Order: sequence, then structure tokens, then C-alpha cells
Amino acid sequence: MSKSLNQIYLPAFGGISLVIAVALVMSNREYADDRMSMLEGRIAQVDAHAAESKQLASALALELEATKAEAATVTATLTALAPVSEGTFGLGRAALAEEIAAWDVDVLPDGRGLPAGQGDVWTGEEVFAERCGSCHGDFAEGVDNWPVLAGGFDTLADEDPVKTVGSYWPHLSTAWDYINRSMPFGEAGTLTADETYAIVAYILYSNDLVDDDFVLSNENFSDFDMYNAKGFVIDDRPELEYAEWRAEPCMSNCKDEVAVTMRSVFLVETPPEGGSNSVMNHSSLEGIPSFTANGPSFIPASTAKPEAPAAQEAAAEPAKGADAGAELIAAGEKVFKKCKACHEVGDGAKNKSGPQLNGLIGRTVGSVDGFRYSNAFKALMEEGRVWDEESLAAFLAKPKSYIKGTKMAFSGLKKKGDQEAIVAYLNSFR
Ligand code: HEC
Ligand code: HEC
Repeated sequence: MSKSLNQIYLPAFGGISLVIAVALVMSNREYADDRMSMLEGRIAQVDAHAAESKQLASALALELEATKAEAATVTATLTALAPVSEGTFGLGRAALAEEIAAWDVDVLPDGRGLPAGQGDVWTGEEVFAERCGSCHGDFAEGVDNWPVLAGGFDTLADEDPVKTVGSYWPHLSTAWDYINRSMPFGEAGTLTADETYAIVAYILYSNDLVDDDFVLSNENFSDFDMYNAKGFVIDDRPELEYAEWRAEPCMSNCKDEVAVTMRSVFLVETPPEGGSNSVMNHSSLEGIPSFTANGPSFIPASTAKPEAPAAQEAAAEPAKGADAGAELIAAGEKVFKKCKACHEVGDGAKNKSGPQLNGLIGRTVGSVDGFRYSNAFKALMEEGRVWDEESLAAFLAKPKSYIKGTKMAFSGLKKKGDQEAIVAYLNSFR
């Protein structure tokens, strides 16, 4: 483009983009104004409801008083007739303050319900690696198909959004409360308040939401604004949309044939291989078992497939160790279902969130290449400790007390029979 043309076009383009920009700003403003008046409307509605509810409450309170008075007279008459202990039926007792406290653990977005305590990012990192990393990854990135807790910030509008504590959760209290109540998975309720503060601080750090010197406590908790705090809207579909779709439901002769296209049992399993094998990840129904309710068998042949390799394996292995108790081995295979989420065994077994378990008896503790063991396991490896049937059974009975500091998040096999069976089963994979 020649110089003189530049002089004409450039200012012209500049002018156009300025106009577009101003238009965009204006439409954004209009949108915000609309939303504000919509929200003001809703607040007015809620206020009106509140006034009504208050009236109702005082009416109910009066009624309660009246009923109480009536009950007192009735009880007085009854106790006069037959001596029931203190006007009750002698059942139950009042809950103790400790019992109520143990149950009353919820934490609200404004921080109400939080116990006093604090924790910093570095402590959080240590506790997280120890207690959570085996499933959620040391950086909260998620191992295999276990949930990811960090990142995903620019994906919320995608078809396949990555919803993490950082990118998605609107309140920090949800993270505190959820972790306190239900994690580590299988060992809920074992974290102290300070550990939970530290872990939550570390999760925020993993999400780049705080610096490494951040300390989270019950005091600064409610000051923290989450990334997606404003991303949730009150569901107004009942008012705005439902009426449009509502039609008279068909009650007779509606469809020639009804076909079940999918069963939840195929959908809910966390896939052992992680990501791409999950039927949850398929965007179409193709390749997913489908069958009709009036077919000869309700379980389609194609669903038997995923089981086949395991069945073959099982058939091949006990054959080798038949005299060593095929039955025990078969029982052990069942028990191994509890381990499968984390361990593989057999041909081509890989490390998952736990190491592969081939040739375990006689193998040095903590010695699988490429697996990141806990310090506790590393120390035993350096000592040269070797797995035998006895130590294996003792470890599996109570992993955490047999090897203090192990990161195997498994509470243990209580039954002696299960311990023996699993040892026999593992022993069949040389
Ligand atoms: C044995 C594996 C395991 C361990 C160890 C574990 N988790 Fe989890 N975690 C899970 C599973 C499975 C879920 C999903 C549970 C569900 O959806 O019901 C989950 C869910 C979560 C979620 C919710 C994620 C979401 O987006 O819905 C958070 C937060 C979390 N875990 C934090 C922790 C913390 C913190 C620890 C350590 C104190 C921990 N987890 C230890 C397996 C584990
Ligand atoms: C939630 C995941 C998880 C489950 C469930 C689990 N493990 Fe583990 N397992 C691990 C992890 C992680 C380690 C590594 C421990 C460490 O480094 O502290 C481990 C270690 C082991 C080891 C030591 C291996 C070695 O190389 O020294 C054995 C044996 C073992 N697990 C057997 C089992 C059996 C049997 C079951 C089921 C009854 C089971 N585990 C259930 C995660 C799990």
C-alpha cells in the first residue's frame, strides 16, 4: 500500500473500530443495567416473601404455645393415671453437646461454622502430597481419572469445560467443608482443622490464586473472592421458560416402541485406564451397548466384552497354581476389586496411582521402577526389606499402622479370609 493510501485508510479504520468499541461498551452496559433491574426485582420478591413468612411464623408460634399448654394438661392427667417417667415414655435421651457438635460441622460462604485455626501454603503442600496426591496429583492436576482440582480457567464456556475448585467453585467454604467432611477418599474425618486450612491454602496456590506466603485462617477466610463467584445466576427458568415448553402429556398410544438406549451401570464407573476409555467421554451413542426392553436378554452380549480379558486371565492363572488352591485364588480375585482402582497385575500391568503388583512375593519393598513411593517406602527399600506372605497380609490388614507414613489410601482388609485370599491371588502372578 502506498504511503498516501495509508494516510487515508488507517484513520478511517481507526474510526470504525472506535465506533464498534463504543457500541460494544454501550451494549455491555445495557446488559448490566438489565441484569441489575432484574436482580432488584428479585430482591423485592424475596423481601415480600420474608414479610409473609414472618407473619406465618408468629401465627405458628402462638399455635405452638396453645398446643404446649394443652399438652401440659393432658400429660398432667396421664401422669396422674399411670406413673410414666417424667412425662415421657422413657425412651431416648437428650443429645449431648458433643454429639451435636460432631454433627453440626457445616461451613457457610461467609465463614460461619469454621473452627478456629490456620494453615500456610507450604504446610499444605506437604499434607497434600502425603494425603491427597496419590489420587489428585502432587499439583492437584489429577492422576488418571481422579478429579482435577486446579486450572481450567479459560474453559468454562467450552463444550467440555474443566470445572475445578479454582475455575468453577463459587465459594471457598464449599472446598473447606467438602474436604473436611469427605476427604481423603475412604478416610474421611481424619484431617485436623489446621491441616484442612493448609490444604485449602495449597489448592488456592495450585490455582495461582494466592502467593506462596499465603496463610489461610478462620479470620481472613471470608475475605477471599473466588474466580467464579459471580458466574452463577438464580435459576429463572420456571418463570421465564417452562411455560413455553409445557404441553399436554401424551397418555395413550404415544409411541410404537420404547427402546432403552443406555443404562447408568455402564456410565458411572470410573474407567480404570483413565480419560479416553470412559463411555462418559463419548459424545455420541455409537459403540455404546444398546438394547430393547423386550429382547430375550436384558444384558446385551456386547457388554460382556470388557469382562472378557479379566476372565481369561483368571482362567489362565489359577490353572498354573491349581494345587495351591484355585478356590482361594478365585476368592482373591474378587477381593482385588478393592485394589483395582489403584493397582494392576498380570501381563502388561502398569503403575497407576499405586505400583504394579506382579511378582510381589520376594520383591523388595518399594522397588518398582518409575513409581514415586512415599518416604516411608523408600526407607524400607534402602533397608532391603522384602515382601513375604506374612508381611503382606499384615500390611494389607492395616496399611497405615503397619507402615507409618505410607501414602496408600486404603483402610485395610479386616477379614482374615480376605487377607489370605488376596495373598494367594497376588502370589499367582509371578
Ligand atoms: C483414594 C483417592 C483419593 C484421595 C487420596 C483423595 N481424594 Fe479427593 N476425590 C476422590 C474422588 C474419587 C473424588 C470424587 C468423589 C465424588 O465425586 O463423589 C474426589 C473429590 C474431591 C474433591 C471435589 C472435586 C470436584 O471438583 O468435585 C476435592 C476438592 C477433593 N477430592 C480434595 C481432596 C483432598 C484435599 C484430599 C486429601 C486430603 C483428597 N481429596 C484425597 C479421590 C481421592
Ligand atoms: C487408593 C489407591 C490404593 C488402593 C485402593 C490400594 N492401594 Fe496399594 N498402594 C497404593 C499406593 C499409592 C502405594 C505406594 C505406597 C507408598 O509409596 O507409600 C501402594 C502400595 C502397595 C503395595 C506395596 C508395593 C511395593 O512395591 O512395595 C502393595 C503390596 C499394595 N499396595 C497392595 C494393595 C492391595 C492388595 C490392595 C487392595 C486390597 C491395595 N493395595 C489397595 C495405592 C492403593
